[in-house]
Amino acid sequence: MKLFLDSADVDEVRKGISLGVVTGVTTNPSLAAKAGVGGMESYKAAVQEIANMVDGPISVEVISTDVEGMITEGEDIATWISNPWVKIPSTLDGFKAMSTLAANGIKINQTLCFSVNQAILGAQAGATAVSPFVGRLDDVGQDGIGLVSEIVDIYLSYGIQTEVLAASIRHPLHCVQAASAGAHIATVPYNVLVDMAKHPLTDQGVQRFLNDWGKSSAN
Ligand code: G3P
Repeated sequence: MKLFLDSADVDEVRKGISLGVVTGVTTNPSLAAKAGVGGMESYKAAVQEIANMVDGPISVEVISTDVEGMITEGEDIATWISNPWVKIPSTLDGFKAMSTLAANGIKINQTLCFSVNQAILGAQAGATAVSPFVGRLDDVGQDGIGLVSEIVDIYLSYGIQTEVLAASIRHPLHCVQAASAGAHIATVPYNVLVDMAKHPLTDQGVQRFLNDWGKSSAN
């Protein structure tokens, strides 16, 4: 399972990329606002700075909700950087926009996916990746990882090439479960990426090696 960083904060992305384990970045309007990136020009500048740090795909979301607006924005976003994935929501207008943009060779990250049916529609529309929102489903008492697993199984049965990108990941266990479910990618916030590395036995083990080394050097 590949790991993407879920952030629009340039400094945070720099720290995440420096770990050497991240191969892409996902952004959205909420993450941009949280990073203090307000307005399209400033979103574009942040995305371009991020694209200078990572070769893999950078997902950038449209703001429009109508077909024409999403297509116009998607075509524009596609010119910003060398490896864009345009994020389009799983709405009726969104599927129309996805199919038009995908037919023109633009890569699509189908976002805000909350059902198998939406994932089937996105695959037919030509999405490069579908993003089931794990944490937000859990928040309303539904099984987010269960959805990831169902989509993976159905795509496998039909040889569908669309990648399953587990999104709205809230904690390290979600990453384990997404990998077990067969997700191709998980996009994780920086704090979750850091928490994935932590284990108390690792810290204790490092300390014990250092202590033992110190004892033997003293002899
Ligand atoms: O990748 C989508 C993600 O940014 C949404 O996460 O925590 O707002 O549900 P969250």
